[in-house]
Amino acid sequence: MLNTVLSARNGQASGTPEAAVQVEGIGKRYPGGVEALKDVTLDFPAGELTTLLGPSGCGKTTLLKIIAGLLDPSKGQIRVKGKQVHGPGPDRAFVFQDFALMPWATVLRNVAFGLELRGVAKAEREATARKYITEVGLTGFEQSYPHELSGGMRQRVGVARALAVDADILLMDEPFASIDEQTRRKLQEDLLQLLQIEKKTVIFVTHSIEEAVYVSDQIVLLSRRPGTVSRIIRPNLDHSTDLEAARRDKAYLDCVDEIWQTLKQYLV
Ligand SMILES: Nc1ncnc2c1ncn2[C@@H]1O[C@H](COP(=O)(O)OP(=O)(O)O)[C@@H](O)[C@H]1O
Ligand SMILES: [Mg+2]
Repeated sequence: MLNTVLSARNGQASGTPEAAVQVEGIGKRYPGGVEALKDVTLDFPAGELTTLLGPSGCGKTTLLKIIAGLLDPSKGQIRVKGKQVHGPGPDRAFVFQDFALMPWATVLRNVAFGLELRGVAKAEREATARKYITEVGLTGFEQSYPHELSGGMRQRVGVARALAVDADILLMDEPFASIDEQTRRKLQEDLLQLLQIEKKTVIFVTHSIEEAVYVSDQIVLLSRRPGTVSRIIRPNLDHSTDLEAARRDKAYLDCVDEIWQTLKQYLV
């Protein structure tokens, strides 16, 4: 069974890996009365990429914002490394779908911005920013402005900015949704490569089944609103030798199909 095999990524031995984030009994009802989430309990294993996948409006962004501390739950609690959190913290960094870059600032300043907010001195924050600009493949574009870059490059800036603050946990809300298909595949591969260098716990939201299967260690399928955990699946693909080959792997195709069979029931 796909969902019973633990991933070998990061060399974890068998058994349940330590949870970086624990979501316990989370419910969310918005002031207008919309119940977005109901009794969501989930572990996000440290060093793994977990994807939240589910129909539009099922509460994925709501859950991500609650984990980020940007939104209060109506019920339940969030623990980061075992400690209950009540708001945003330096341990979690958000990567937005629409990049959220400052259009008037250079790539360098955008990437260094989180460190600027934390009062890190200019020389130090720029040195750190340059390191991550290189890591995401944007060397030479330090002095460019967002409007001079393609969508894919802008999203790399967003990823570099999240990496620069050195949070252990990256929260990515449909980061590649507004990017064309070919660039998107490249960004997925780059993300996996980056995660081999930077050991992060990633909570990733997408509405693409293929993207979820390709990038994830663990996929959480959410039901229609109010979102509840429907199933947890581990694709268990091997990305270690050839990133491209994983997309042709039979396990990849089987997993895409298995998820489709589950999600289909939520479509009207
Ligand atoms: N600020 C808000 N006030 C009221 N309802 C909201 C608010 N934000 C989201 N919702 C509703 O909550 C539900 C879940 O939204 P969201 O978390 O954005 O879903 P998803 O990201 O899965 O598409 C939707 O029905 C949405 O309309
Ligand atoms: Mg959303």
